Amino acid sequence: MKFLRRTLGLAMLVGCLGLAGASTAADVVQPAAPAKEAPKDLVLKGDAKCTTCHDEADAPELLRIGKTKHGTVADGRTPSCTSCHGDSDKHIKSANAGGKDKPTVPDVTFGKKSTTEVSLRNETCLTCHQGGKRIGWHNNAHAVRDVACTSCHTVHSGHDKVRSATMQTETCYTCHKEQRAQMNRQSHHPVPEGKMTCTSCHNVHGDNPKQLTKSSTNETCFTCHMEKRGPFVHNHEPVSEDCGICHQPHGTTVNNLLKTRPPMLCVQCHGADSHPSQPPAIPVGQATQTLNNNARIMGTVGRGCLNCHTNIHGGNSTQSNATAERFRR
Ligand code: HEC
Ligand code: HEC
Ligand code: HEC
Ligand code: HEC
Ligand code: HEC
Ligand code: HEC
Ligand code: HEC
Ligand code: HEC
Ligand code: HEC
Ligand code: HEC
Repeated sequence: MKFLRRTLGLAMLVGCLGLAGASTAADVVQPAAPAKEAPKDLVLKGDAKCTTCHDEADAPELLRIGKTKHGTVADGRTPSCTSCHGDSDKHIKSANAGGKDKPTVPDVTFGKKSTTEVSLRNETCLTCHQGGKRIGWHNNAHAVRDVACTSCHTVHSGHDKVRSATMQTETCYTCHKEQRAQMNRQSHHPVPEGKMTCTSCHNVHGDNPKQLTKSSTNETCFTCHMEKRGPFVHNHEPVSEDCGICHQPHGTTVNNLLKTRPPMLCVQCHGADSHPSQPPAIPVGQATQTLNNNARIMGTVGRGCLNCHTNIHGGNSTQSNATAERFRR
């Protein structure tokens, strides 16, 4: 940082003056002051107020902000250092006065030693980012629990991990350990593979239930699984109600992200005992057996209930007989 050099120079000068003052003060010839150039901005408009002291030598990553969207100086909406950090006049004054001791930094909004509370830090960002996806920010669980914009976003370095498909989860998992465990289960959405991100389903700035991108779980799922929306000739009630009744969207130990393996999944709602014992039109080879005792029903053979009820999300059979509407085709 130029600051140290400057202070040191100043201290030496003062030292010399002090010595000189003790002996031959009158003879001291002031060195000709070098022609003073107005300090130039390095990366952001008006940054000279800060970059006279804070430059590459200070923290290598600091000035990389010039290479991010925040550094597009041609865009009149982009910030100066002070748009985020505040005027910082007290900070600069204390820095100038601090000499060799660490200066106090009482009015700098961001930084490790800043005492500015999270909600005020967030307001600083929101002065420019209130719209779009953040329109519902104030009712969002992150906002309510005082999670900072900067718990997720890194603005100086240019490596905003949370916005990278392959690295986003690292940030989320620092606080959401349960979801990490779920995503590591055998059946999962391809998030660990980097083909999807948490934000394929969540808007972490929004005020939808569970911060979903859409107003409900089903609407969120339909953005990619449209075929499950129907309309079907025969709907299966829990499917229309909430995909999450049977599926855990992050990951499970059962295939197809199922919370429980059929038939257990199904018999939570349908008593296996009440299954019609001699249903018509059972596939060949099964007609002679009593379904109640049928191993196929209880899932010890093949896919259990799904051996026969293959269209579990809704059937489109237009046949008018009793079995057609049982999600059998
Ligand atoms: C978009 C808002 C924003 C702008 C513009 C901005 N900063 Fe920062 N600055 C931050 C945040 C947030 C942090 C906290 C660390 C982080 O998230 O990168 C920070 C941290 C710092 C730090 C402390 C670094 C550390 O490691 O403790 C310094 C010094 C700093 N900024 C100086 C500047 C200077 C100089 C400028 C202008 C060139 C500037 N900042 C522009 C938001 C901003
Ligand atoms: C006269 C020199 C000087 C000027 C001008 C100056 N700073 Fe600093 N700043 C310092 C020094 C010295 C430190 C302390 C470094 C340390 O503690 O390691 C510091 C620290 C900081 C920190 C880190 C605080 C923390 O919590 O770690 C931030 C952020 C910061 N300055 C922002 C700014 C901004 C923004 C401006 C312009 C508005 C600015 N500074 C102007 C000298 C200056
Ligand atoms: C003075 C206004 C201003 C402030 C304050 C500000 N930003 Fe920005 N920010 C912008 C503008 C302008 C853009 C570029 C928008 C665009 O390209 O659509 C931007 C872009 C971004 C982006 C997207 C970057 C990209 O690569 O696409 C993120 C993330 C962001 N800002 C986060 C923050 C955070 C976090 C803070 C607070 C620490 C903050 N901003 C403070 C004006 C601001
Ligand atoms: C929980 C982590 C998290 C928090 C907290 C967070 N963000 Fe984000 N932000 C993201 C992720 C992930 C993305 C990229 C995916 C997306 O756009 O939904 C993003 C995208 C953005 C973008 C660029 C895309 C756009 O919508 O224009 C801006 C700007 C932004 N965030 C600003 C903010 C501000 C301001 C805050 C605080 C009020 C904030 N973020 C809080 C994670 C977070
Ligand atoms: C700094 C910690 C932190 C980080 C990082 C973080 N979160 Fe959160 N998140 C929280 C807290 C705290 C809550 C509120 C939990 C509660 O109320 O039980 C929350 C809640 C949530 C919720 C539930 C919302 C609701 O309404 O119940 C979702 C979804 C979520 N976070 C997603 C994410 C995603 C995705 C990321 C990464 C992009 C992320 N979070 C990063 C702390 C964090
Ligand atoms: C395929 C879509 C999808 C993806 C991808 C996804 N989620 Fe979720 N997440 C959901 C749904 C749907 C819910 C609501 C479940 C419910 O209603 O209980 C949810 C709920 C949550 C909750 C709240 C849990 C609770 O019990 O309240 C958190 C936290 C969360 N997700 C974090 C994450 C994180 C972190 C990631 C990335 C690792 C992620 N999610 C990826 C769909 C998804
Ligand atoms: C952003 C797109 C997207 C969204 C939104 C989405 N999914 Fe997926 N889903 C996928 C992808 C991609 C796969 C993997 C397909 C593959 O591997 O062939 C998948 C696979 C699945 C699978 C099969 C998993 C397996 O083990 O083969 C189920 C079940 C599933 N999703 C349910 C849901 C539910 C429930 C929701 C809503 C909470 C949802 N999905 C939201 C993209 C999405
Ligand atoms: C009544 C329980 C139940 C509900 C509710 C449910 N599913 Fe399923 N889902 C299943 C079963 C069982 C399978 C496995 C089907 C198989 O093996 O043939 C499955 C498989 C899937 C698959 C992967 C195989 C395929 O058919 O593409 C996707 C994707 C899927 N479900 C999405 C959804 C969506 C989206 C919703 C909400 C609209 C939903 N499910 C609601 C039980 C359910
Ligand atoms: C959360 C409760 C719930 C779960 C879990 C559930 N169902 Fe259903 N199912 C219903 C409801 C409610 C109906 C419609 C009311 C009725 O006719 O009993 C229905 C209807 C049916 C029907 C058609 C009945 C008819 O009269 O047309 C079949 C077949 C069926 N379910 C099979 C299954 C299978 C197989 C599974 C497991 C993969 C399953 N269900 C899981 C609640 C559930
Ligand atoms: C061997 C094929 C087969 C298997 C396996 C099977 N079912 Fe069925 N199921 C049928 C047929 C055929 C019907 C239509 C019976 C009728 O209309 O009389 C039916 C009817 C139903 C009905 C409607 C009952 C009613 O009273 O209206 C439900 C609910 C049902 N099955 C659930 C299940 C569940 C849950 C399982 C797994 C535990 C299962 N089925 C396994 C063939 C099967």
